[in-house]
Amino acid sequence: MRPDRTFRSLNHLNPLTMNRKRAWAEPYKIKMVEPIFMSTREEREKYIAEAGYNTFLLKSRNVYIDLLTDSGTSAMSQSQWAELMKGDEAYAGSEDFYHLEEAVRKYYGYQYVIPTHQGRAAEHIISQILIKKGDFVPGNMYFTTTRLHQELAGGTFVDVIIDEAHDPDSTYPFKGNVNLEKLENLIIEKGADKIPYICIATTVNMAGGQPISLRNLKAVRELAWKYGIRIVHDMTRVAENAFMIQQKEEGYQDKSIARIVREICDLTDIATMSAKKDALVNIGGFLAVNDYDIYEEGRNLVVVYEGLHTYGGMAGRDMGALAIGIKESVSDIHIHARVGQVLYLGNQLLEAGIPIVNPIGTHGVFLNARKFLPHVPQDYFPAQALAAELYVDSGVRAMERGIVSAGRNKKTGAHNYPRLELVRLTIPRRVYTQSHMDVVADSVKYVFENRESINGLEMVYEPKYLRFFQARFKKVVPVTPQKMQNPEEKEPVVHAH
Ligand code: F0G
Repeated sequence: MRPDRTFRSLNHLNPLTMNRKRAWAEPYKIKMVEPIFMSTREEREKYIAEAGYNTFLLKSRNVYIDLLTDSGTSAMSQSQWAELMKGDEAYAGSEDFYHLEEAVRKYYGYQYVIPTHQGRAAEHIISQILIKKGDFVPGNMYFTTTRLHQELAGGTFVDVIIDEAHDPDSTYPFKGNVNLEKLENLIIEKGADKIPYICIATTVNMAGGQPISLRNLKAVRELAWKYGIRIVHDMTRVAENAFMIQQKEEGYQDKSIARIVREICDLTDIATMSAKKDALVNIGGFLAVNDYDIYEEGRNLVVVYEGLHTYGGMAGRDMGALAIGIKESVSDIHIHARVGQVLYLGNQLLEAGIPIVNPIGTHGVFLNARKFLPHVPQDYFPAQALAAELYVDSGVRAMERGIVSAGRNKKTGAHNYPRLELVRLTIPRRVYTQSHMDVVADSVKYVFENRESINGLEMVYEPKYLRFFQARFKKVVPVTPQKMQNPEEKEPVVHAH
């Protein structure tokens, strides 16, 4: 596969390189360092076995380059660290709450803000407020915690993303788009009163970090108005989505990231935010709304589950750092370098012929485990096995986004079988350099060359909720090719919930 060179590089922002293709570097210098250590292969084989072949259960000290997630793993800037010292830790009415509120209003445009300890708490609150038993919640693909909170509130998630999103080889630039026909059919079939809101994520994590276009979002807005349905925006990676719009959507090349972010938010009514991603903090989130009545209900619920409405689940200093993180996250220079690093890694893998999700996403590179390990059927958790092998090879920690993450069917108890069986190499923001990316690419290539030696896994412990976090596995004894090819002959395992 040829590398994706359709992106404008950082060059146009840099007077030195404006008119020429030149090397670029991260737009920061490192003031404080955290040492990382390389273990031996034998040690890593022991660590991963002890962790039940689940990279979530590894100790971070045994990881060399940590690409488990981009959540809460960013490096904060000197301004954010300085702000921590000024934190106002008053129980009520902290100065930092007002800084946060001001930043949300200015950069995202939502009127009312309720801080929460992280994104899923905001999802919990909004699901409890808006969803009734028997409701349907359409969305541009599911996210694990989002869907679970919708289900716990009595709703059923319905995937209305375009089909291309489920095809790792489709190079469609906006795989986060909604299939408008599917959405409208659902509204007609179930009735608008059964649809409390449409859930729109920017970018779509489970599809491989894929953006939605503004054109599509505007059409969703029109439909939502037509039927009187709200739009809830999962804005966890909205600046990254804006970057893709600036790069690829006609008419946005000369608009700033800040302006595009605002345009996206203005098309939606409510937002849930995991500030641990885009917004460059290690912990935090919020629920933001424009409708005063919903705000009022949210304020009532947040004191039950999180804390007073002027701190939710956050320390004052963390709200202060978040207010600054929001501002930094919509800077063009920052976002170009952030996604630029992901593209740098992804392009190396494409050039080496490694099967990855196309186009390269904004927060990570997603290996296509189905193609990487065609000899391991989905029942033997190929993405889980691949993530474990990558760790053993080089100490690089990735994570599974496939059948384990997809969980079980609520009614039948059988596994959900997603078309996407992926390993996510997630890049933390401002943490690693291009040299780290070179090491990662090198390891993926090595594992690819030796892929035939990788067998699948069997699940030996399965938690009730969000099983990918804590499930444990063991290596399968190599099975006969005959058995490997016919996983569907097995009875589906029926589970208690
Ligand atoms: N929505 C999206 C799109 C997410 O990626 C996440 C978290 C959440 C909501 C929930 O936010 O973790 O702050 O409670 N994603 C992390 C990840 C866990 O690794 O992708 P949270």
